Amino acid sequence: MTDIRVLTDEAQYRAHSTLFRRAMHWGPPSDEQWPVVLPSYEPGRVLAAFEGDEMVGTTQSFGGRMLVPGGALVPHTAVSRVGVRADYTRRGVLSALMREQLSTTPDPVATLRASEGRIYGRFGYGLAGRVRFLRIDASKAVVPGSPVGRVRMVDLDTADKLLPELHDAFGLDRPGEISRWPGWWARARDRKTEADNLVTVVHSGPDGDDGFVCYKVSEDKDFKHHMEVEDFAWANADAWRDLWIYLTRLDLIDTIEVDAALDDPLNWLFEDPRVVYTKDVYDQIWLRLVDVPRMLAARTYGAGEPVVIEVHDELLPANSGRYRISPDGAERVEAQPDLTIPVDLLGAVYLGDTRFSDLAATKRIEGSRFAEADALFAGSVAPLCSTFF
Ligand SMILES: CC(C)(COP(=O)(O)OP(=O)(O)OC[C@H]1O[C@@H](n2cnc3c(N)ncnc32)[C@H](O)[C@@H]1OP(=O)(O)O)[C@@H](O)C(=O)NCCC(=O)NCCS
Repeated sequence: MTDIRVLTDEAQYRAHSTLFRRAMHWGPPSDEQWPVVLPSYEPGRVLAAFEGDEMVGTTQSFGGRMLVPGGALVPHTAVSRVGVRADYTRRGVLSALMREQLSTTPDPVATLRASEGRIYGRFGYGLAGRVRFLRIDASKAVVPGSPVGRVRMVDLDTADKLLPELHDAFGLDRPGEISRWPGWWARARDRKTEADNLVTVVHSGPDGDDGFVCYKVSEDKDFKHHMEVEDFAWANADAWRDLWIYLTRLDLIDTIEVDAALDDPLNWLFEDPRVVYTKDVYDQIWLRLVDVPRMLAARTYGAGEPVVIEVHDELLPANSGRYRISPDGAERVEAQPDLTIPVDLLGAVYLGDTRFSDLAATKRIEGSRFAEADALFAGSVAPLCSTFF
């Protein structure tokens, strides 16, 4: 019998971390790492599965806020550190953890990053946001014109204090973006210390600091230099453009790799748009609508005729029901549905990454008036979550 418990003390958190890391085929946290990892354990949000006295599975979450289409910020659960001991897999341990986590989370929406695409759909998570992995040929990347602001390099201690303030001040600009928590910044600082060549630069415009980028460079056996952009945030287009001018005019750099939204305009920044090459498109945001009525009411809708959608949710049956969506909002109704959709696919269309009419061809949703539903749910920008957890 699998028993799910909320962990409460440091020794249990460390056992949790060790179990999760082993499930990922990594070693346990070292004595040096542990003080950095510990603050990322939020009391009340750390769950473990037990068989008798033995811990056999883990999950946890971080509380915060997520931006939804239309600009509202909703309370958000960032699910992480999901693992089951290898000698206990495929016996329902994860299922028990997910059931407990979803039925007790205080927030109306949860997201996660999935190690494998087949794991989370059955628990009502849908693939709600994809990202482009870009490679830029820095040796040929020319941005016409001059920078308008100033870029300065900052040391680790300055970055440690300044970046969280700036990230909060810039705000979130795409559906799916989430606020960062203190433990996230502690881990980010740890990564900067581990990679002793990680550099942070801050951009200032007429109104002060308005952008930053963290990057590191490695050199291959042919003396080619490759930059990885680890974190990039900006408050306005001047900061974004100036920071790209800075990155592409750095000496010695041959290539730059960065994650970007599907509709990121980077190609058009350069004289030759082909210097930006999409190496891959991968799934980033897996989204679970925990409280469907609240989440449908939280976002805005495009113009068009109202559509009644019927939602099916086996794990959280209170969500099952019919909802009338119109340009004025969403409400629960008894009317005949135009289309029916399982809750994982409602998660997939929620941020605007996927359309009802695309899903219709798969036969995983049924009914009619898909084009009208597309118009209501359409977003003006592609979703993204630039905060890895
Ligand atoms: C993924 C993992 C957490 C699954 O745990 P688990 O306890 O074996 O999952 P469950 O037994 O509750 O599985 C529930 C269902 O999902 C299926 N499933 C679970 N993991 C799967 C996977 N990786 N691939 C395919 N199917 C999977 C099971 O077969 C089962 O299906 P069924 O109900 O039709 O029999 C575990 O295998 C693990 O720790 N993997 C390595 C670490 C990892 O990838 N963690 C996730 C990080 S995002």
